[in-house]
Amino acid sequence: MNLLFNDSSITVAIVGCGGFIGCHLLDAILTRTKWRVFGVDLDFYRIQHRLSDERCEFMVADLADKSVVERIAKYPVVVNLAAICTPSRYMAEAPEVIRSNYDHPAALADACAKSGSWLIHFSTSEIYGRTSADSGLLLEDETELTFGPVTASRWSYATAKLLTERYIAGLKNLKWTVVRPFNFVGPYMDFMPGVDGSGIPRVLANFSSALVRGEPLKLVNGGVAKRSFTSVFDAVDFLFALFETGKMGRLSEAALENAPEKSPFSQAFNIGNPDNELTIAELANKMRKIYAEIKGVSVESIPEPQVVSGVEYYGEGYEDSMRRLPSVEKAERLLGFKAKTPIDDVLRESLEWFVKHYGSAS
Ligand code: UGA
Repeated sequence: MNLLFNDSSITVAIVGCGGFIGCHLLDAILTRTKWRVFGVDLDFYRIQHRLSDERCEFMVADLADKSVVERIAKYPVVVNLAAICTPSRYMAEAPEVIRSNYDHPAALADACAKSGSWLIHFSTSEIYGRTSADSGLLLEDETELTFGPVTASRWSYATAKLLTERYIAGLKNLKWTVVRPFNFVGPYMDFMPGVDGSGIPRVLANFSSALVRGEPLKLVNGGVAKRSFTSVFDAVDFLFALFETGKMGRLSEAALENAPEKSPFSQAFNIGNPDNELTIAELANKMRKIYAEIKGVSVESIPEPQVVSGVEYYGEGYEDSMRRLPSVEKAERLLGFKAKTPIDDVLRESLEWFVKHYGSAS
């Protein structure tokens, strides 16, 4: 077994441990390593099966509490996954979205700078902003970042996330890595409206809910925007590649001096799968087809998608990124990581899970 993974003296703090990415990361850590976990979140329903694990300690809290922030920063590796990250909330709750995505992570970054912890901060692919249909590959350190006007509150989230990235990058003495997820999908993503959440979840959960309910999928502004969907299990593998390359924050100064270009610290990484790019209309049709196969019915029996306007659907201030195609060259070069799960597999696995989990609750 890998010596690092076998080291039972390591504890990782995971903020947002009960969330979509957090629950899969927790499972992977407990399965693949001997590490301990200090997990913080506001609810733990996705990780009920881990609550009594003797290698874990959980705390119901958020980063608004300064004493919690200081406690988290005592651990040598801190993964911050906590965020308000559903676009339907960016318009209605912009101040809250900004506080949770800037104030709280900035306080955590300050505490980690003081304690010497390695902060792995989850940002977003949305920091690339109002991309157009012909935007090409998005490069971490080169692509221009352009947002809409302040009246378009869609960008409240991306602006706060970008400010946090700049804050982290500017902090002296902070050992940091920023991760920019490109539309992670998989089991436990978001919620089913009216069952375990309200409002509009992100597209995978929203389309899955409509399919289970026999309702038409809604194509915002015609479904011409493109996204590159990434398996959450690939995302977890990325984190393991990062943990290993950074030797859980113990990568020595000497090693860094010898090969500074190989350092995973002071870097932002796109995590995405450019091979899985689809328009949202293509996604809708793929999901209809896979759902029909799962249920053993004809695709013609699944309602046709309907076009809706973004402003009517999400509210005043909604705008969109028209294309998000990640360059993944940096993660490959520095960490030897590349996402590998093809789109059809990701969607089938996600939908099968959704049908099993919510099929009787709809
Ligand atoms: C969101 C978040 O803002 C990002 O922070 C996050 O990183 C990203 O999801 C992600 O999952 O990685 P976005 O991709 O716009 O960004 O989120 P979705 O709500 O999943 O929307 C994707 C596209 O589908 C948009 O064009 C949206 O208008 C469209 N959509 C969504 C529909 O056509 N119908 C729906 O029912 C829902």
